[in-house]
Amino acid sequence: MTVSNRILSGVQPSGDLHLGNYLGAIKNFVALQHEYECFFCVVDLHAITVWQDPQQLSQKTREVIAAFIASGIDPKKNILFNQSQVPQHTQLAWIFNCVARMGWLNRMTQFKDKAGKDKENASVGLFSYPTLMAADILIYLATHVPVGEDQKQHLEFTRDIAQKFNNDFKTNLFPLTEPLIFGEGTRVMSLRDGMKKMSKSDISEYSRIMLNDSPDTIVQKIKKAKTDSLPLPANLVEASTRPEAFNLLSIFAALKNILTKNAIQQYAGKEFSLFKKDLTDLMVATIQPIGREINKLMDDQLYLDSILKDGKNKATIEADSVLTQVYDIIGFKKS
Ligand code: ADP
Ligand code: TRP
Repeated sequence: MTVSNRILSGVQPSGDLHLGNYLGAIKNFVALQHEYECFFCVVDLHAITVWQDPQQLSQKTREVIAAFIASGIDPKKNILFNQSQVPQHTQLAWIFNCVARMGWLNRMTQFKDKAGKDKENASVGLFSYPTLMAADILIYLATHVPVGEDQKQHLEFTRDIAQKFNNDFKTNLFPLTEPLIFGEGTRVMSLRDGMKKMSKSDISEYSRIMLNDSPDTIVQKIKKAKTDSLPLPANLVEASTRPEAFNLLSIFAALKNILTKNAIQQYAGKEFSLFKKDLTDLMVATIQPIGREINKLMDDQLYLDSILKDGKNKATIEADSVLTQVYDIIGFKKS
């Protein structure tokens, strides 16, 4: 079986979604859904590589599905499902644990960032996280993966696994998957520190915009967003030396679907107060309808669960067919 135009991407149900998730990933899923056959997965197995409250996890999973739909992903056309419900992902991940080399995993920067100083205390799952991600992608023979910039290294790792598996077993089963990293929001930075990625795990709520923030909260967060005391940069060269200004200008560009350099041109030399007002208006106009729709969808759990169930059934058929081929190639004996 070869597939020419298939997407898989995943989002963790590890907290409410933020603007980085939207601009770096979900907005692009929406744009790509008509060109590709798409599998969008809520990766709860990845989420538990760090502690998750069991009381909240299934609700968080529904929230990601609601955010997909509220952002414009068509649940009829695309397969939306939950990773833990398709066990073939974990079955293939084990095999990939035996293909990947310790040295490859040791080079993964996300592990270093997430484990921090206390590596000895990190879960084994956090260390082998990329092999499960490779399995998520390759169990569907996905050819393309839309993600934010931070996932680039994991996609190179996925290609290394595909290549080694194909070489070791003299097959051409797995494609060398291409990342799709595009738009002006591929790396949205914290509103408190232009050198740090916007992330769910930052202790400061003021560092990120959540998709369910109220307009008032957005106003406050943008007002407090860190800037310097100069007027807005005159050109791209100057902007790239001022991380906080650059970040806000690229968020503006991403929301408006223009290039960052054009946003810079538009506001060159102007005061931050004026720019922040325009940015706030644009952000509220984009985020508020999505937040409202998420809340509405969250009131209809039966609907969200029916989508997850349908997605699970469809995904399982595809995943099982690839796993059967893998078992055959490896030489697992059928009884
Ligand atoms: P995180 O905990 O980093 O939010 P997720 O697994 O939920 O991780 O991320 C889902 C998607 O959002 C991925 O494609 C990831 O690359 C993207 N993403 C996460 N943070 C950002 C960011 N700050 N800027 C751009 N894209 C991001
Ligand atoms: N590792 C991704 C992140 O932290 C989430 C993820 C898991 C993923 N499996 C995937 C992304 C497969 C793309 C494809 O953001």
